[in-house]
Amino acid sequence: MNLSATPRTLVVVAHPDPGSSRITVGLADAVRDLDHVTVHDLSAAYPDGRIDVEREQALLRAHDRIVWQFPWHWYSVPAVLKTWIDEVLAYGFAYGTGGTALHGKTLRLVTSTGAPEEAYAPDGRNRFTMAQLMAPLDATAHLTGMRLAEPLVLFGARLVSDVELKAHAEQYRTLLAA
Ligand SMILES: Cc1cc2nc3c(=O)[nH]c(=O)nc-3n(C[C@H](O)[C@H](O)[C@H](O)COP(=O)(O)O)c2cc1C
Repeated sequence: MNLSATPRTLVVVAHPDPGSSRITVGLADAVRDLDHVTVHDLSAAYPDGRIDVEREQALLRAHDRIVWQFPWHWYSVPAVLKTWIDEVLAYGFAYGTGGTALHGKTLRLVTSTGAPEEAYAPDGRNRFTMAQLMAPLDATAHLTGMRLAEPLVLFGARLVSDVELKAHAEQYRTLLAA
């Protein structure tokens, strides 16, 4: 943990098809120029889908705050981020004997959904709240010694106007700059 200087933030952007993305790519572009922020787009870094685990682990070690930025797919993270989690958060690095590399870091989930916020409720179409559905990610943060920050969720992505998206991007910038 880098206590003496400004915290460094790594934004891991995980979209399976950035060419079709309005929200994820738009939000990533909105924070790219911030000081102390590294925007790391998995699709651009690994067009063949093969993740360089050592490179990813070195990036994680070099930052204090980690952001996973992704579209909400099937009540979870997209496959590209699940594969990244499976491979990068390895035994001896992120958990298990000697696995302390992420201890003391902060993890923030930044995501967007197609469904509106009211669908994510016990009596709504999706039956569960986002906090409930994010429980496996909360457990992942806990096991790996990271503090889970308040997630930033943009609901009803398809109906979000350009003005609303810009306001949300400003909120995201403010969070990362804090
Ligand atoms: C394969 C797939 C699965 C999706 N699953 C969900 C879902 O479980 N819940 C939901 O609210 N939206 C779901 N959506 C909608 C996306 O979350 C939404 O289109 C996305 O957040 C928009 O961001 P983008 O412009 O970066 O793609 C899904 C979309 C796709 C393509």
